[in-house]
Amino acid sequence: MAASSSSATAPAVKGVARTLAHRRQAVVGFLFALIVILVLHTTVVFGPFQSTNANVVLESTSGEQNAKTSSPLAAQAASAPNNSTQAAVHAIENGQKDDVAKNDRETRGQLGQTGKNDASDDKTQEELIRQELDRDVKRGAPRKPICDLSDPRYDICEITGDARAIGANRTVLYVPPADERGTDGPEWAIKDQSRKQLGDIKEVNVKTLSAAQSLVAPECTSRHTVPAVVFAMNGIIGNPWHDLSDLLIPLFITTRAYDGEVQFLVTELQPWFVDKYRLVLTNLSRYDIIDFNKDAGVRCYPHIIVGLRSHGDLDIDPARTPRNYTLLDFRLYIRDVFLLPSDDRGIPYKEASKKNAAGNDNGTAVTENPKPRLLLINRGESRKFVNLPEISAAVQAAGFELLVMEPSRDMGMEEFARAVDSCDVLMGVHGAALTNFFFLRTNAVLLQVVGLGLEREALHYYGNQATAVMVQHIQYFISAEESTLYEKYGKDHPAVSDPDSVHKQGWQGAKRYFWAEQDIRLNVTRFAPTLHQLIRTLQE
Ligand SMILES: *[C@@H]1O[C@H](CO)[C@@H](O)[C@H](O)[C@H]1NC(C)=O
Ligand SMILES: *[C@@H]1O[C@H](CO)[C@@H](O)[C@H](O)[C@H]1NC(C)=O
Ligand SMILES: *[C@@H]1O[C@H](CO)[C@@H](O)[C@H](O)[C@H]1NC(C)=O
Ligand SMILES: *[C@@H]1O[C@H](CO)[C@@H](O)[C@H](O)[C@H]1NC(C)=O
Ligand SMILES: *[C@@H]1O[C@H](CO)[C@@H](O)[C@H](O)[C@H]1NC(C)=O
Ligand SMILES: *[C@@H]1O[C@H](CO)[C@@H](O)[C@H](O)[C@H]1NC(C)=O
Ligand SMILES: *[C@@H]1O[C@H](CO)[C@@H](O)[C@H](O)[C@H]1NC(C)=O
Repeated sequence: MAASSSSATAPAVKGVARTLAHRRQAVVGFLFALIVILVLHTTVVFGPFQSTNANVVLESTSGEQNAKTSSPLAAQAASAPNNSTQAAVHAIENGQKDDVAKNDRETRGQLGQTGKNDASDDKTQEELIRQELDRDVKRGAPRKPICDLSDPRYDICEITGDARAIGANRTVLYVPPADERGTDGPEWAIKDQSRKQLGDIKEVNVKTLSAAQSLVAPECTSRHTVPAVVFAMNGIIGNPWHDLSDLLIPLFITTRAYDGEVQFLVTELQPWFVDKYRLVLTNLSRYDIIDFNKDAGVRCYPHIIVGLRSHGDLDIDPARTPRNYTLLDFRLYIRDVFLLPSDDRGIPYKEASKKNAAGNDNGTAVTENPKPRLLLINRGESRKFVNLPEISAAVQAAGFELLVMEPSRDMGMEEFARAVDSCDVLMGVHGAALTNFFFLRTNAVLLQVVGLGLEREALHYYGNQATAVMVQHIQYFISAEESTLYEKYGKDHPAVSDPDSVHKQGWQGAKRYFWAEQDIRLNVTRFAPTLHQLIRTLQE
């Protein structure tokens, strides 16, 4: 409140010079007082933390006290008693992004705007007003931790300052500095993953301690210089689409800007997930992953985030990420992490053709012309190709080298990533395994076989994203006769004759017919022109 009423004075600066003179005196007085307070604060509050607190356990094994391995910003946050640590950490959050207004939920945004309005006026005045506003904000109601429960997908809290994570109690506490403590202790129950509507994502309690509670706050058993992120590893992960959409992309959005200088406190830790995505997890965080449910200590951090941000289904909105990360950045990032060849080499077919041409030119013995490689994903259960041998023969006859894979949850990611990278085309029926298009190279092709009733879904869950990351998206829309629903229910059943009418009746019917009961009997005669077109596309 105080902040907004003061900011209203800013545009009228010239007209109220007198007021400003008063303000200036007040501000100078305030600044002096602030310096005194800060000096006291530094000695009293920060002094004991650094040396004499016998309860501090240094975790030298994980390197968390090693200032050299910390990012400059994290180190700053930990050692900036004369500045709000919040500023230091927000600098990380925002990366190089200078679009301050985007963060308008936070006071910092208001301050930034006021600063802009003042820009044409006396610089000193601007500075003084800014600082006064800063003070006004500090005096106001407790503003930390900032928990935001307004997004339909996720809840998120950001605590900056003295943040303590207690795994045994599924609790994260904020102990405010002495001069910011209030009589109340606001509390939030946070679903710590990107699908907050799921029942089995349990809540983590986040609480700002009151003045009285702060005096008896649980003592730190370990103290860390990097930020921590608390998130759940359960929900409906288990296929690549949900693994990425629900967890890895939100984790990338929330933590990539820390460049590994962040620790993960994981609720409902799933060992299979850690194994499967170890390369990604250990790149996003260079510290041990903590099984938070089993953690016995009181872990203290300069900054804790509870929850994971998510912007959409398998998507990233660059305007809402630090450093403007895009979905394409994510694809290039995981290619790097999985040690795949540099993306600028072009699709494998082009690369091989070039080599071959060079071989011909200089007389090196050359065998036959290289063929484009097509990876055919065959699902094990629903939406499978019932005439796989026939399809395989047609693909080869069209001039492709064929690889067929049936992905499973336990498939080694590195091996699979290399297989996808070595191909020019990833072909399959709408289904989670198509998510592996993230391992294709730029200009490679995702060939989606679109079953009855899955046209919108084909675009919404895969096609749009493939296009966004510079993978070509080609769709083959089956005819009614190519769906096993046709054999099973006949041409007049609404699932066959009018799939939209089934969608309109709700998810249960759509799920039953289009997702669960439908298999594909590809008509290879009808499909052949698509394959020929595909070869021409790859040769372009
Ligand atoms: C804190 O104050 C010291 C001494 O004035 C200064 O060198 C340092 O840059 C300041 N730190 C921050 C984060 O402003
Ligand atoms: C410290 O405060 C100064 C003055 O407000 C500001 O310019 C600087 O960016 C701050 N530094 C950090 C690390 O927050
Ligand atoms: C991020 O995007 C915003 C607007 O979309 C732009 O103004 C800004 O320059 C971008 N920042 C970076 C680092 O690309
Ligand atoms: C955890 O919660 C219990 C019950 O509220 C409390 O007695 C205990 O002190 C808490 N543990 C810590 C480390 O705060
Ligand atoms: C993460 O991967 C990137 C790209 O390969 C690399 O530059 C960076 O050093 C890695 N970070 C960590 C913490 O391993
Ligand atoms: C001939 O081409 C092959 C295949 O690209 C290459 O490995 C080899 O170095 C070339 N030799 C000469 C003499 O250019
Ligand atoms: C397969 O497609 C071809 C060409 O569209 C068509 O003539 C033929 O009738 C189809 N076969 C079946 C069994 O539907």
